[in-house]
Amino acid sequence: MTESVICAHIQQRGPIPFAEFMALAARAYYTGPGRTLGRAGDFYTSVHVHPLFGAILAAQLREMWALLDRPAPFTVVECGAGAGLLADDILTEAARWPDFHAALHYVLVDIRTPSPRGGAPRYAAGGYARPGRGFHALSDVAPCPIVGCVLSNEFVDALPVHRLRCVAGQWREVWITLDGGELVEVLGEFSTPDLAAYLTGLGVPPVDRQEVEVNLAALRWLEDAAALLARGFLLTIDYGYEVNDLRAGRFSQGSLMAYRQHTAHTDPYQAVGEQDLTTHVNWTVLMQHGDKLGLHTLGLITQSRFLLALGILERAAAWSDDEAQAGRARRAAWQLAAPGGLGDTFQVLVQATGGLPTALRGLADPFSTFEPSRP
Ligand SMILES: C[S@@+](CC[C@H](N)C(=O)[O-])C[C@H]1O[C@@H](n2cnc3c(N)ncnc32)[C@H](O)[C@@H]1O
Repeated sequence: MTESVICAHIQQRGPIPFAEFMALAARAYYTGPGRTLGRAGDFYTSVHVHPLFGAILAAQLREMWALLDRPAPFTVVECGAGAGLLADDILTEAARWPDFHAALHYVLVDIRTPSPRGGAPRYAAGGYARPGRGFHALSDVAPCPIVGCVLSNEFVDALPVHRLRCVAGQWREVWITLDGGELVEVLGEFSTPDLAAYLTGLGVPPVDRQEVEVNLAALRWLEDAAALLARGFLLTIDYGYEVNDLRAGRFSQGSLMAYRQHTAHTDPYQAVGEQDLTTHVNWTVLMQHGDKLGLHTLGLITQSRFLLALGILERAAAWSDDEAQAGRARRAAWQLAAPGGLGDTFQVLVQATGGLPTALRGLADPFSTFEPSRP
C-alpha cells in the first residue's frame, strides 16, 4: 500500500532522495493503524523492559530541576514519546517527591499526535499533555520557550537520513526511482547544499564504496530544541557512533537497519511502511551543532554508566516488598545496565544551555567509590 503510494509519487514527480523515501515510509509505519511498540510489535526499547528505566530518568530530571533552582513549571518535553509509556513511568516515580511532581509539566511530542489547532501551546495551561493533546513536532512547541528538559529515547535514530556513497573519489547521493515498477536506487547530485557543508564539517576522507548517512532532520530538531529551551537540558538516549568510528572504518557500509517482528535486516525496500527503519546517531555532529546553538555538551556516556551512577541497582533493590516483583526489577536493572547488552548498545548525551552547573549525578563515575577488595 505505502509502496504503491511512493511509486505513484515518483511517477508524478520523478526520482526522490532516499531521505524523502524514508520519511514517507516512517510516517506510514508509525502512524499505521493499530501500530504497537514493544514485545507485541516489531521491536522493544528500554522503556518496555521495565518501569525502572523511567524511574531512574525521573531521578535525573529531579536533579536538573534542583540545579535550575526549582522552577515551576519545570517542563519536560519528550520527543518520540509514542503512547506515553515512559511519561507514565516518569510521572509515577516523580509522585514520590510532591514538590517536584507539582512543578512538573510533561509534554508529549510524536508524529502520531495530531497538532493542536491554531498551534495553541496547550502545555502552558499546565499538567500532562496526553497523546491526542500533545504535539506533532518540536517546532509546534518551540514558539513558547521553556525552562526544563527536552528528553528522548530512541527518537533521533528514527529520523529520515540522506545517504551518500563514494564512487571514484566523489560523494554522490542515493536517490530512489522506478525501474519496471520496482523501487531502485540510483546515484545523483546532492539534493541540497547542506550535504556538502555537512561532509566538510565531518572531515571523513572519501573511500570508494563507503556509505555515510546524513541526518539533517536531527540538526533541524536540535535547532528547534535550542529555540525552545530558554534554560535547561537536552537529554538524548540512543545508539550511535562518533566521527572517529567512521574514520576507523566502522559502518563503512552505513548503519541503516530495518526491524520487523523482532528480526533485523538491511533491506529498506521490503514491506515498505510495515517495518521500522533506523540509523545510528552521529553523536559528534549533534555535539558540534549543539555548541553552535548554545547547547553545550556535559557528557556522552554509555547507558550502563548513566543508570548505575543514578543508582539503578539500589532503586531495583527497593522496588517492591513482593518477592516476584522485586525479582523482576533486579533482572530488569541487569538487562538495562549490564555492559555488553542494552547498557553498552545505548549512549546518553546530555547538553545544556550556558551558565548551568555541569556536574550531573548521571554523568558521575559510578565506580569512583569502588575499591577492589585485597586478597
Ligand atoms: C523507536 S520509537 C521509540 C518510542 C519511545 N520513545 C520508546 O523509547 O519506546 C520512535 C518514536 O518516534 C516517533 N517518531 C518517529 N519519527 C518522528 C518524527 N519525525 N517526528 C515525531 N515523532 C517521530 C514514532 O512515532 C515513535 O513513537
